[in-house]
Amino acid sequence: MTDDVASSEASAAEVLRRAQLRFGGEVVGTVAACDPGPVLLNYRECFVRDFAVSAAALLAAGQASSVRAFIVTVARLQAHGGADAGMRAAPGLMPASFAVVRDAGKGEGADERIVADFGQRAIGRVAPIDAALWWLLILRAYRRATGDEELQRAPDVRDAIEGILSLYLQPQFEMLPSLLVPDGSAMIDRRMGVYGHPLDVQVLFWAGLRAACELLDADDPLRDRAFERLVALGLHLRRHYWLDRSRIEEIRRYPVEEFGDARRNPWNLHPDAIPTWTMAWLSEGGGYYAGNLGPAKLDPRFFALGNLLAVSTGLAPAAHADGLFSLIERHERDLLGETGVKLAYPALEGRDWALLTGSDQKNVPWSYHNGGSWPMLLWPLASAARAAGRVELARRVLQDAVPRLHRDDWPEYYDGPYGGLIGRRARLRQTWSAAAALAATALMRDPEADDPFAFARDEALEAALDGAEPVMDDETTVGSPPVDAPLGEP
Ligand code: GLC
Repeated sequence: MTDDVASSEASAAEVLRRAQLRFGGEVVGTVAACDPGPVLLNYRECFVRDFAVSAAALLAAGQASSVRAFIVTVARLQAHGGADAGMRAAPGLMPASFAVVRDAGKGEGADERIVADFGQRAIGRVAPIDAALWWLLILRAYRRATGDEELQRAPDVRDAIEGILSLYLQPQFEMLPSLLVPDGSAMIDRRMGVYGHPLDVQVLFWAGLRAACELLDADDPLRDRAFERLVALGLHLRRHYWLDRSRIEEIRRYPVEEFGDARRNPWNLHPDAIPTWTMAWLSEGGGYYAGNLGPAKLDPRFFALGNLLAVSTGLAPAAHADGLFSLIERHERDLLGETGVKLAYPALEGRDWALLTGSDQKNVPWSYHNGGSWPMLLWPLASAARAAGRVELARRVLQDAVPRLHRDDWPEYYDGPYGGLIGRRARLRQTWSAAAALAATALMRDPEADDPFAFARDEALEAALDGAEPVMDDETTVGSPPVDAPLGEP
């Protein structure tokens, strides 16, 4: 190990240690950032999604007790439908974040309370649809790393699993296996046109269902329901979100305005809406999962979290995993940049930016969620690279990025088309930036050791996916003539 790497790791471990959040004398989480500047907004709270990265680093270091305490604490915070400041969190929802509140003037341990935020205080009042899914993944990772099978059976934890599944599996207005999601309800927690059926949340849903299937007993009827949805969702995402050259060829020949049973273009996509950069990318090779799909909407932006998790959680079959990494290698400067992984590509600019973000000054082009680079994504990159057999790529990226993050004092995000500038409004000593460096480095150190957040290929699941009836199948072949308009169409 070089001095640079060793001192970066020591610094990252110190950031993680200082971020510890205590309740009743016990570490129950990590705060989002310990920026040396004034405490701003909610960065002194423990975010459930941010803690997943801390948990990966802690489990890799053999420090499982705070992960356990976090799991129990958050299980007890689950919403049960009570009103809070006029807002009502859906029963089963897990909080975006929580804070430990102490009476003024009293020290640690005295009259402490935990206050959870389900979106009733968050900027934009956005509800966290991803938190419960991350919580399931943390619980499953804890079990894998420690072998402790009792925790998932503890009454509070078991109730929380049931509460989550009743909420996430309940019938919706739509007849699709994907989740209908409000804008700003996941890592991208403000308006960015990421609503409807955004990839990042759909892949987390897939992963959360896989975790639930492992955590529940084989004869549990709840497990059957989770498995059924998992299969329908997996098939849907693999068929309809995946884009590569042959898919683009098909979509470019789609008939529009189909009515009735015709199924070539179920979403009534307008082929001319495919942007030039997508055509250029895909005609050169490789592939990726589209950012969003819905009526008349194919959002071809590249969202890194969904794509990387698709590989590490087994949603992407081997050919897709390979296609994704070929694409990443071809467009490495755009997608990996200098300091992290681009959250979304390309940035929204001009009128698109004004309309889709509501002229959000923090999300200006090539900054923050809108084309910014996030060190936190180095962790899913490392996990996906292992699953796809591209360890060398991840090693190389980490070698350059980690010492730089250390020198810059662990920024939350970077700006610019290639991620070379510290985010204009980024916090420093951002916990998940440091935790990601630790967790990713640990995954690279021993690529054979278990990655407790990854999912291996499961033959029973693959057989079910092969045998399942698609919810909607467009049955297209490249160059086939348009299906005749059904009788009676106006
Ligand atoms: C930002 C991110 C969000 C993260 C939070 C705390 O709001 O968008 O994903 O959880 O900061 O780090």
